[in-house]
Amino acid sequence: MAMQTLKDKKIWITGASSGIGEALALELARAGAHLVLMSRNRDRLEQVRKACLEYTSVCLVQPLDLSRPDTMDEMVTRAMKQMGGIDILINNAGQSQRSLAKETPVDIDRKIMEVNFFGVIKLTKLLLPYMLKQGSGHIVAVSSITGKFGFPWRTAYSAAKHAVQGFFESLRAELKEDNIKVTIVSPGRIKTNISLNAITGSGTPYNKMDSGQAGGMLPEHCARKIVKSIRQERKEVLVGNQELLMVYIHRFWPGLYHRLVTKINN
Ligand SMILES: NC(=O)c1ccc[n+]([C@@H]2O[C@H](COP(=O)([O-])OP(=O)(O)OC[C@H]3O[C@@H](n4cnc5c(N)ncnc54)[C@H](OP(=O)(O)O)[C@@H]3O)[C@@H](O)[C@H]2O)c1
Repeated sequence: MAMQTLKDKKIWITGASSGIGEALALELARAGAHLVLMSRNRDRLEQVRKACLEYTSVCLVQPLDLSRPDTMDEMVTRAMKQMGGIDILINNAGQSQRSLAKETPVDIDRKIMEVNFFGVIKLTKLLLPYMLKQGSGHIVAVSSITGKFGFPWRTAYSAAKHAVQGFFESLRAELKEDNIKVTIVSPGRIKTNISLNAITGSGTPYNKMDSGQAGGMLPEHCARKIVKSIRQERKEVLVGNQELLMVYIHRFWPGLYHRLVTKINN
């Protein structure tokens, strides 16, 4: 399989202030990529930027709130002026959920959809014209294995990730003749603060480390696998450990999947 070089590539990463996105930023900086780091927490992004500048000469910070689509046009215009282009967009930012559907008001479901789906496609649609104009590009969508099967306590999050899967798989087919690649990454359990930052039915953070995440793959290991899949221009990649088996159990043994998934209590 051909391996693309990432040296001097202009790579925009959302959710670069923490977890998988932070590890991706460092891994890509080591590969010599030029980076735009985006998320809400500017101070954290500045810290990540400082670490990246040990390895790469170009690393910009751009505050981005995926739940505020009205602010994105201006942000993209500003960042594009500074960076001068885009080769790869990594849609990594996301927020998980820890609440039962019966205890979750619809406005929280909408917020989860906004951050994990509508915000993601809005940013993608703002950046896609630049890729179409230059006749090349690569879009990466970080979904989840819960984008492949349903999971209790994550109804809206799983729905948003299923939507991400459907959107980017369809987009890949549409862009085949435009030399724009689409990679969908579905992580399993990665040891980040995702459960602490997950939203609950009352809109507050869950603030607890789940045992699944605590025992999960290290974000640095996950980032290396994602970067390899980008270099190889893979269409789909699952990243994790034994929990990835559920993807195949769901597909080939739906009865067994149901028995296993109903035993999960958060
Ligand atoms: N960890 C796992 O086990 C796991 C499993 C499957 C999928 N994933 C996916 O992997 C991606 C990265 O998650 P992670 O595990 O690294 O979690 P994390 O440590 O909580 O990081 C989430 C990132 O998303 C950003 N973010 C959250 N809400 C945002 C918003 N409204 N606007 C802009 N940025 C926002 C956060 O930055 P700010 O707070 O600075 O905005 C942070 O950088 C997510 O898409 C997640 O769904 C993770």
